[in-house]
Amino acid sequence: MDKNTVNKTNIIGAGEAGNATSVDMDKNSVYKTNSYYWDTQGNDFLGAIVLPFYGAFVSEEKCQLFGDVSGKKMLEIGCGNGQSLQYLGERKASELWAVDISEKQIDKAKQHLKERGLSANLICSPMEEECGLPVDYFDFVYSIYAIGWTTDLEGTFSRIASYLKKDGVFIFSWSHPIHKCVAAEHNRLVFKKCYFDESWYSVSLDKGKLTLSDRKLSTYVNALAKAGFIIEQMIEETDDELIQSRDDNSDFAKKAKMLPVTFVVKARKL
Ligand SMILES: C[S@@+](CC[C@H](N)C(=O)[O-])C[C@H]1O[C@@H](n2cnc3c(N)ncnc32)[C@H](O)[C@@H]1O
Repeated sequence: MDKNTVNKTNIIGAGEAGNATSVDMDKNSVYKTNSYYWDTQGNDFLGAIVLPFYGAFVSEEKCQLFGDVSGKKMLEIGCGNGQSLQYLGERKASELWAVDISEKQIDKAKQHLKERGLSANLICSPMEEECGLPVDYFDFVYSIYAIGWTTDLEGTFSRIASYLKKDGVFIFSWSHPIHKCVAAEHNRLVFKKCYFDESWYSVSLDKGKLTLSDRKLSTYVNALAKAGFIIEQMIEETDDELIQSRDDNSDFAKKAKMLPVTFVVKARKL
């Protein structure tokens, strides 16, 4: 991940990237706005976050949440350009599957994997909807910075549980909700937004617009429990060694030393 990418990662938070406008959540209009964003802008502005990274300053190489994936069936939720699938394919996963709402991202992922001699079953669909994925089938379902785009967290977790075999593992990362509340301003960190506010908003980014809501950590934990998962591990720490190795003095890196910017959950289907 280059330094530019790191600086842009997690940019949608605490008003750092333009003004947020409150919106009423309408599932179809969120699908339309967000799929249009990724069809037209991709990750040019936001920067991709792909395995081995779970976020700017958290990596699989240190956390070892997947362990040995050889012979395992993998499903990615929100695969973007397919680089995380590549990472797992090169580690000898037996099957690669993914769903993404953006036709353009699915095309990019197909091309990316083909060029590397890997094949995958890629489905263009909102993660919230029935899309023909097999049930009781996967050893791992995972998602790197995509789960939070769902319009229906409980429904999505329940679908993910259905795709997993018993004892299958679900790993996902997303922006830490505290990071979304705090902005760096004039060398200070300022609490800008109510942590409890989960209302939906639209935000303009460069040439596009995205619609989302910031959920509390307890909303994720409770939705996992309701879908029949047990949490095995949760990571909030920033990896200082990663910051040091990149010699990163950005405001974002300084913020990441003070508070969690990413959270990662490893949960198991009971
Ligand atoms: C920030 S990217 C993360 C993906 C990948 N890790 C990357 O960095 O390229 C978010 C991805 O989620 C997809 N996405 C957004 N909303 C979605 C939804 N409701 N269902 C499925 N995919 C969605 C987008 O098209 C995009 O490819």
